Amino acid sequence: MQHLVDTYDFSEKQIANILKDARAFKKQMPSQLLRDKLLITLFFESSTRTRSSFEVAAKRLGAAVVHLDPAKSSTNKGESLEDTFANLCAMEPDGVIIRHEYNNTPRKLADKELTCVINAGAGNYAHPTQALLDYFTMLEHFGDLKGKTIAIVGDIVSSRVASSGIRLFTRMGMNVVLVAPQPFMPDNDLPKYEQLDDVIDNVDIIMSLRAQLERHKAPIFEDYEEYAKEYCITSERLGERNILLLHPGPVMRNIDISDEMLEDSRCKVLEQVKNGVFVRMAILKALLLDS
Ligand code: NCD
Repeated sequence: MQHLVDTYDFSEKQIANILKDARAFKKQMPSQLLRDKLLITLFFESSTRTRSSFEVAAKRLGAAVVHLDPAKSSTNKGESLEDTFANLCAMEPDGVIIRHEYNNTPRKLADKELTCVINAGAGNYAHPTQALLDYFTMLEHFGDLKGKTIAIVGDIVSSRVASSGIRLFTRMGMNVVLVAPQPFMPDNDLPKYEQLDDVIDNVDIIMSLRAQLERHKAPIFEDYEEYAKEYCITSERLGERNILLLHPGPVMRNIDISDEMLEDSRCKVLEQVKNGVFVRMAILKALLLDS
């Protein structure tokens, strides 16, 4: 049984196949490859894009999807997460798609080997399907990403999108540089900059990230308008440079990216969302049919 907890669960050959399938699905919707499959989504944290993208992807492939809302489930009556999960698995789904605030929850549930576990975001540790859809979006634009440089800008330390992205992009031969004020900077050996202007002439892609206010134990900045003066991606900051702009959403307008930049053709935020469905379709196929 294969799980997707982190992108390292996939071999390079599997990643290449997923990207190929996603490309083919984007060209032409496939037949209902997962017609007999049943997936359960279990989201312990809020989600707009990821949950609906998984549901759309599963339904496009003909799978049935059942959603359990933890706020209205028996975890609220004191049932442990493990027991809730075991009870869902007793209904014999083909996979459970889970989002949780703790880094190790998906791995812990996957290790029970009761069903295929797909991580839809865990703490600040991993969001593998986002990393793959971001990679797909960049690849579609550039054709080849070896040696390309991506600057990740914003609240990197709290971001599972950043941590998953860093692992995948470096594995695939990209250069990753980090741009953030000191409280948002993680501790690793990647090149670090406090100002985007110091590195902007050497980057091909910027990934802007939201300040993850809900994960901060105490407020880090009093005034996000001050923060935005340094880190908001604006037309003035980008100039005429041919840089691709990504953001996993939700975008805090005029803090992460300016209104004007969101309308710019270099900004791929909605393309990422569109690609997310095809990439998740390919991932579901890889996990439920190919492995
Ligand atoms: C992110 C998440 O929840 O990890 N969004 C997403 O899944 N596309 C990022 C965020 O909440 O800022």
